[in-house]
Amino acid sequence: MSETAPIEKQAGRDLSIAAGAKPVDPRTVRPPLKWAGGKRWQLPELEPLWAPYQNHRLVEPFCGGLAVSTGLMPERALLNDINPHVINFYIWLKRGLPISFDMKNDERQYYRCRDRFNALLEAGDASTAEAAALFYYLNRTGYNGLCRFNSKGGFNVPFGSYTNIGYKRDFLEYTSAFAGWEFTNRDFERIPVADDDFIYADPPYDVEFTHYSKGGFGWEEQERAAEWLSKHKGPVVLSNQATPRIVKLYRALGFNLKFLDAPRRISCTGDRRPAPEVLATRNIGVRHQSDTCQTGV
Ligand SMILES: C[S@@+](CC[C@H](N)C(=O)[O-])C[C@H]1O[C@@H](n2cnc3c(N)ncnc32)[C@H](O)[C@@H]1O
Repeated sequence: MSETAPIEKQAGRDLSIAAGAKPVDPRTVRPPLKWAGGKRWQLPELEPLWAPYQNHRLVEPFCGGLAVSTGLMPERALLNDINPHVINFYIWLKRGLPISFDMKNDERQYYRCRDRFNALLEAGDASTAEAAALFYYLNRTGYNGLCRFNSKGGFNVPFGSYTNIGYKRDFLEYTSAFAGWEFTNRDFERIPVADDDFIYADPPYDVEFTHYSKGGFGWEEQERAAEWLSKHKGPVVLSNQATPRIVKLYRALGFNLKFLDAPRRISCTGDRRPAPEVLATRNIGVRHQSDTCQTGV
C-alpha cells in the first residue's frame, strides 16, 4: 500500500457540518453510485442488529457504495475506503457537489470525460470538485459501474452502452444526510476506531483457492481483517462469502455465525444455486439461532 497522504488531508478541507444543511428524510437517501458487492439486500438482517446501538457511531472500514450506511442512516459515522476517488466524491457530496456540464449517455462525451478525468489525475488534481463530478458521470455511464485503472494509473473502463441512465442532477439531500459522517481514505487497519463504535465490515469477497487477488485483497488481508475485527471491544458485524476457510477463520476467533443466501447466483455445476454468505458477529448481545454451516466446515 502506498503511503500517500489521505485524500481528506490532501484536499485540506474542513469536514464539519455543511452550512445550511436541512434535516433529511432517511427513506429518500439512495446510494449515489453503482458499486460492486453492494449489500443493500442485507438490510433486513442488519437493522435488528443495529437498532440497539443506533446512538453509537457506525464505522464501515470498507464502505464502497454506501449501500449499508444510507440504509441504516446513523447520525454519526466513520466511512472509509481505500479507493481515493470514491471518498473524494463523498467528501464533495457532503460539501455540496456542483456538476456544471450536461451529462449525456453518449459514447463521445464519455471518452472525452474519461480523458479529462485522467488528465486531472496526472496533474495531481484528483481531489477537486471537477474530478468528483467526472467520477460520478463515469461511474454511471461506464461499463457496469467498474472502477479499474491501467498500469500507468489511467481509468480505463469502457463505455457502458445502457439504454437509459437516470443521472442525478441535484445532490442537495446528501449535504444534510452526510452532516455527521466523516470520510477517510486509508487501509482499514489505520482508521481511528473508538471502543464503543459499531463496526460493519464488508471486505472484498474471499475467493477460495487463491492467496493473491487482483484487487490486492488476498488471503493474508482476509486474515489481517479478521484479527483486527476480533480485537474490537464494541459490536462487530462482518460480511463475507461463506467459503470454508472464512467460516473456519471467524469461528476460530469466537464470532457467532449466521448464513445467508445472497441474491447473486453461482453456477459451479450449472444449477445456479444462491451464493452462500456469512454474517459473523461479536459483542452484539444476541446469539444467532443458526450457527450451522452449510459449506461443509
Ligand atoms: C465489497 S466492497 C464494499 C461494498 C459496500 N459494503 C456496499 O454495500 O456498497 C469492498 C470495498 O473494500 C475496499 N477495500 C479494498 N481493500 C481495502 C483496504 N485494505 N482497506 C480499506 N478498504 C479496502 C474496496 O475499494 C471496496 O470498495
